[in-house]
Amino acid sequence: MAADGDNRFRVGLLGHGTVGAAFADLLPRHADRIARITGLRPELSGVLTRSRGSFEEILAGSDLIVELIGGIDPAREYLLTAMRAGKHIVTANKQLLSHHGEELWEEARVRGVQLRFEGAVAGVVPVIRVLQESLAGATIDRVHGIVNGTTNFILTEMARTGEPFAGALAEAQRLGYAEADPTEDVNGKDAAAKMAIIARLAFETPVHIDQVRYEGIEHIQPDDLEYARDFGLGLKLIGTAERVGDGGLSVSVYPAFLYPGHPLASVNGPFNAVTVESEAITEITMSGPGAGGPQTASAVLGDVISAMIPPASTPPATESLDIVGDVTSSFYLYLEVADEPGVLARVADVLARQQVSVKSVLQKGLDDQARLVMVVHPVLESRFFAAMREIAALSAMRAAPRAIRVIEEEFV
Ligand SMILES: NC(=O)c1ccc[n+]([C@@H]2O[C@H](COP(=O)([O-])OP(=O)(O)OC[C@H]3O[C@@H](n4cnc5c(N)ncnc54)[C@H](OP(=O)(O)O)[C@@H]3O)[C@@H](O)[C@H]2O)c1
Repeated sequence: MAADGDNRFRVGLLGHGTVGAAFADLLPRHADRIARITGLRPELSGVLTRSRGSFEEILAGSDLIVELIGGIDPAREYLLTAMRAGKHIVTANKQLLSHHGEELWEEARVRGVQLRFEGAVAGVVPVIRVLQESLAGATIDRVHGIVNGTTNFILTEMARTGEPFAGALAEAQRLGYAEADPTEDVNGKDAAAKMAIIARLAFETPVHIDQVRYEGIEHIQPDDLEYARDFGLGLKLIGTAERVGDGGLSVSVYPAFLYPGHPLASVNGPFNAVTVESEAITEITMSGPGAGGPQTASAVLGDVISAMIPPASTPPATESLDIVGDVTSSFYLYLEVADEPGVLARVADVLARQQVSVKSVLQKGLDDQARLVMVVHPVLESRFFAAMREIAALSAMRAAPRAIRVIEEEFV
């Protein structure tokens, strides 16, 4: 607080871009209401961009720092310096937390300050608070998330119009759902950063973004969406964090097919959603807008208000689950083969040797070629990919095989 008898709560803002400018606009509009709730009146004490403001002056004149610059440097150094000076922090920076979360959370604990980051994952959907507070008493088994709105919009558009990836991406850019440079959205890296943070909180195990296996949606063909519809399947870019075996944790981001009964199957367009599974609670799904300046700024303001009231910190990692790379999964497999006798038998032989069992299969002819589209039962991924490599080498193959994971669960 500014001074004795003064009820001002001074908020220093680093970054004044899409989210920062929306936050600077939102804060004064809510100041009176926040003063009634907390007894303290928040006000902006300074703004830092590349061309204006001094970090040292803002730090000296603030009770809390909101970091909306993004990226690792200089955000990391600013946050460490601010916490060492005893200031609370609110950030929406998933890149930074997925690389240096442990260092930052440790600094917050040592300094007795709050480090809040609701806006870093799924925009305004309150995933962080629910994992840290509401579900603190549950043992979580699995989290599934659609945590990137750009890719969800593109896949929804491809399924709706039959457009290829490039056309749907151009539409996303035209409507403002994709950045001019969408690389980290479409290649899965943005979602991987968010899943690293989610997994850290859900499983109390340190997870670095480099431990998250991820794949994007650039290679998805409209054909795959069309054929899979015949099996009742819809495609999403799904982040998964789950306990595996005895003491293991797997964290990944892949395009995956869902059956219609899955709670994430109906999440369309630029929306985000996260499903948390635990024996005690069965399943909880949260969904809402995953990005956008005003939406994320509202999550940031919620964190500022929380930081003004009671202390909350991310406890030290109490678990050390092994991060596991090879897990069991069901797959959709698309093959273009020569339309000649015995091909299906040769494919079936490879699958059987790798213990891959077929759940359903469709065969469609096309001139002298045939398309075999199948869904296989859950199998160790290493076995499935070994089978796929063998199938790719068969002389009857007319194109590289394509595979996409299928999530088997339905909650109906
Ligand atoms: N946009 C979203 O919908 C969204 C959603 C969820 C989370 N986030 C997260 O929110 C954060 C901010 O995103 P944004 O979209 O608002 O970014 P942005 O529009 O690119 O704005 C970044 C701001 O930071 C300033 N900045 C950059 N480098 C700086 C430096 N070295 N020193 C001082 N200031 C610097 C920029 O200054 P100039 O004005 O001088 O360029 C700009 O004002 C990121 O961590 C992002 O991941 C964004």
